[in-house]
Amino acid sequence: MTVPGDKSISHRALLLSALADGTSFLSNLGPGDDCRSTRACLERLGVRIDDEDTVAGSLRVAGCGVGGLNAPSTTLDAGNSGTTTRLLLGILAGHAWEARVSGDASLSRRPMRRVIDPLTKMGAALTSTDGCLPLTIRGGQLHAIDYTTPVASAQVKSCVMLAGLHAEGTTTVREPVPTRDHTERALRQYGADVTIGADGAVHVAGGQRLHPVTLRIPGDPSSAAFWAAAATAIPGADVTIEGVSLNPTRLGFLDALARAGADLSLVPDGERPEPVGSLRVRHGGLRPIVITPDEVPGLIDELPVLAAMATFGGALSVSGAAELRVKESDRITELVRGLRALGATADERPDGFVIDGSRPLSGGTADASGDHRLAMAFSIAALGGRAPSRILGADVVSVSYPRFFADLEELRA
Ligand code: S3P
Repeated sequence: MTVPGDKSISHRALLLSALADGTSFLSNLGPGDDCRSTRACLERLGVRIDDEDTVAGSLRVAGCGVGGLNAPSTTLDAGNSGTTTRLLLGILAGHAWEARVSGDASLSRRPMRRVIDPLTKMGAALTSTDGCLPLTIRGGQLHAIDYTTPVASAQVKSCVMLAGLHAEGTTTVREPVPTRDHTERALRQYGADVTIGADGAVHVAGGQRLHPVTLRIPGDPSSAAFWAAAATAIPGADVTIEGVSLNPTRLGFLDALARAGADLSLVPDGERPEPVGSLRVRHGGLRPIVITPDEVPGLIDELPVLAAMATFGGALSVSGAAELRVKESDRITELVRGLRALGATADERPDGFVIDGSRPLSGGTADASGDHRLAMAFSIAALGGRAPSRILGADVVSVSYPRFFADLEELRA
């Protein structure tokens, strides 16, 4: 099977194409609502984006050049997307006009001080509602900073890097634990010079121009993770996902699946510029696993489905994952609540959770709480229930994986 184009890479491809000098051609763009939010915001900023083939997710983006976006006449609506908001704010900070950014109820609860602080240090003026959306940003002539992110967040790192592209001097970003490096790779692909120090610090010089690219977005490993976890959990399962991103900063979940007993094989198929290949997962028993704090950034989005997998007869203990509380929902409270509603033995911790999968799920009714990854994780858990389950608000899968239920049906057939 294949999975949709990677959401993280798609956001970056849209944003950097908008900043390039010329027209970029993107294909297999992530089909979800989040990527649509990035596109809509860019269109409001004067970027011309034309579909070539909506089924194949291919489109043309006419870049405006770094610093060349137009002031929007209305609010920029980032919908449900934290990545849209935080990365776009880094770019808006480099433009000398005012913009207002808003989002849906979930996004309006998520913390933005983590980007407001560094952007303010660089010289932008931001006003928010208690550190949350809606907020107003007035950018201008930025100066470079040397910034250590207080949380391990690729969104914060990327925001500062993108602002750094518009700043005078060389901006440095340091992070407590390495996070996904898509912005570093993408900037280089668009021709910018990004250096990574021996200590892992990322340096971006301001004043660089970007050239347009032709890019096929690889499949999303975070979407593939649902099928990989299901294949690990279900005896007899054997799933191969082709054309998926094999970026090592995204594959922490594969280590976890291997420790749980999965029989895994990866067949790399080149780097363009992200490593791509196929991933085959076969059931091989299900053992208890522990996720430690240092592993969390490498599998942050896969923790809900790893929890679902554990309910099939394994066990899972996660710590150092308090960041889950500020995702599309409070992913500790809502995950535990939903899995319990399906009959699981699950306990919340301040910075994680514990799942005891020794008893099969009864089945039940779980609420996705407006969170796409919870809707999909609960659906995977429900496959192990003794009776059918109901997932409330399951249409939220459209945020990242609109065909999730169609693909699930095909795999079950
Ligand atoms: C993302 C980074 C992660 C991840 C999110 C996408 C990105 O968030 O959870 O789904 O594209 O940079 P944080 O960097 O805030 O942890």
